Amino acid sequence: MKIVAVNGSPRKKGNTATILQHVLDGAKQANDQVETQLVHLYTYQYTGCKSCFACKLKNGKSYGKCALKDDITPILEELPNADAIVFGSPIYFSELTGMMRCFLERLLFPIFTYTENWGSLAPKKVRTAFVYTMNLTKPVMEEWGYPERFQKMESVAGHLFGIPSEVLSVYNTVQFNDYSKYVCTVFSEEEKKQYRATQFPIDCQKAEELGARLIAE
Ligand SMILES: Cc1cc2nc3c(=O)[nH]c(=O)nc-3n(C[C@H](O)[C@H](O)[C@H](O)COP(=O)(O)O)c2cc1C
Repeated sequence: MKIVAVNGSPRKKGNTATILQHVLDGAKQANDQVETQLVHLYTYQYTGCKSCFACKLKNGKSYGKCALKDDITPILEELPNADAIVFGSPIYFSELTGMMRCFLERLLFPIFTYTENWGSLAPKKVRTAFVYTMNLTKPVMEEWGYPERFQKMESVAGHLFGIPSEVLSVYNTVQFNDYSKYVCTVFSEEEKKQYRATQFPIDCQKAEELGARLIAE
């Protein structure tokens, strides 16, 4: 059994990577036979879908597969064989990061068919989850319509991999080690650090529970 976490943050030790590591740790604690992998997208050179449609060409040699060849080609080939995939991204301007979006275009578009009810060419059912980390608090992100916005990609992934995606959102994250060094008047370092000390351990615990659920028999 294998679970893969995909980090869509440029920071290898940031909020998103930390939460993803807890998801993997939770899976491992639940079953020590589980293989875990953490992929840092920003270490690869790649683009989003180039709309070549080779993945949809009748009798084409790349039918159902991404024909673009770059650094993420081996990852795209292997990932649909995992038993669980966790996509983690910081929120940049109310969206997934561009790198995560490009990655998802490449992963999901080839297995998405232009047929009645939008079919799937995924080789098997895979449990998926989306982990978001963001500066905003829960009430503000809800007021800004984030859940509805993110739900679109979650439902595509859940539909294509045959099981609805799970979601874990982590709010009010700490961005800087020392807020006094940066021009930043809208966030209070004291309030952020207080929230971090009390809520982040709970979020890490939720991440471990998510990891255990994703690999449960
Ligand atoms: C370019 C950029 C844009 C951002 N836009 C938003 C945003 O629209 N909403 C939000 O809540 N946080 C925003 N943030 C804050 C990050 O989402 C947040 O700090 C996140 O937890 C960082 O994750 P990381 O530590 O894994 O990199 C932004 C950060 C950056 C660098």
